[in-house]
Amino acid sequence: MTNETKKPKIPESKIIDKLNEYTYKVGIFRAGLELDIWKKVEKGEDTAEQMSAKEGWDPLGTRMLLDDLCSLKLLKKRNNRYRLVKEAEYYLIPGKPTFEGKFLLNDCNWEGNGHLAEAIRTGKRPIYHDATTNEMVDDWLGVYVPNLLDEAAYLKMSTEFWKTLGVQAHEGMRVLDVACGPAPRSLILARQNTGVQITLLDWERILNTALGFANTLGVEKQVATITGDLWSTDFGSNQFDLVFLGNITHFFSSEDNSRLFQKVYGALVPGGVIAISAIRREYPHPMGPGLWFYAVSKGGAAYDFDEYTSMLKRSGFADIKDVAKQPITAVKP
Ligand SMILES: C[S@@+](CC[C@H](N)C(=O)[O-])C[C@H]1O[C@@H](n2cnc3c(N)ncnc32)[C@H](O)[C@@H]1O
Repeated sequence: MTNETKKPKIPESKIIDKLNEYTYKVGIFRAGLELDIWKKVEKGEDTAEQMSAKEGWDPLGTRMLLDDLCSLKLLKKRNNRYRLVKEAEYYLIPGKPTFEGKFLLNDCNWEGNGHLAEAIRTGKRPIYHDATTNEMVDDWLGVYVPNLLDEAAYLKMSTEFWKTLGVQAHEGMRVLDVACGPAPRSLILARQNTGVQITLLDWERILNTALGFANTLGVEKQVATITGDLWSTDFGSNQFDLVFLGNITHFFSSEDNSRLFQKVYGALVPGGVIAISAIRREYPHPMGPGLWFYAVSKGGAAYDFDEYTSMLKRSGFADIKDVAKQPITAVKP
């Protein structure tokens, strides 16, 4: 037996190191987005010397940024000339319909340049744009573009969604899709049965995208719209069989959700169904962390089933079902 004291085992810092690596990568990517690097390479400013001279930038900083973007595989280099990679060509050139840069830049700033900690200290939020105002329209459009490019996958996902919920399109069915985005879920119901009528609600420019998608699907004659803020627009009364709230309730406080559910309750016929799909507290999602909803809204959070149940009960709903990881349904008695 030795008298040597056992050295404590030092844990590895793999997770922290990975996070540290991401912070560097995000900083480089963000500078590339702010400086519109890919557009400049596309225009032919394809050496660091040319770009820095043309833009009046620091030559050393420009060269280092371009090289680091190569190491992120968002540019490539041959003989000191930089070239676009396919992914950048598609998503990072402003003016292209597939441009995602504006939304990505906003996302880089989701924690308000360090203001997230302050929001937690004080409870004051949102710390950047409020995701429930029409200031965010460009961001949303940036999110939708890649999905709209893969129409078949988008439609398959929507078909499976209603199957999981046990909802079937039928003659005379009237559906309201609140905060619809490009509306693949409700539009697929119109495609499944020509007797289904869909009412889409969102900001005007988003509705234009949804109507474009309805055209692509050949269901535009079955679609009506309500334009503008879901708080001030009228949903009508006793006229819908199904009201869908997709990925919107996590941006509101539970009091506001109860108010919204009451509005939906009034719009449904007796026996009508409310279907909610949201990122839930029980099932965290890497692309929608709970704190993001907290940061970009006045009252949002990822809620769990029990919390949704009490909001829905407060608004008069019954037969509340936890269908899968995201969807919840309830019935107007
Ligand atoms: C995350 S997207 C969800 C889109 C779609 N429902 C889905 O599940 O994919 C949120 C949508 O809500 C809309 N939205 C947010 N706040 C709104 C408001 N106050 N009034 C109307 N639409 C709103 C946005 O414009 C955006 O299209």
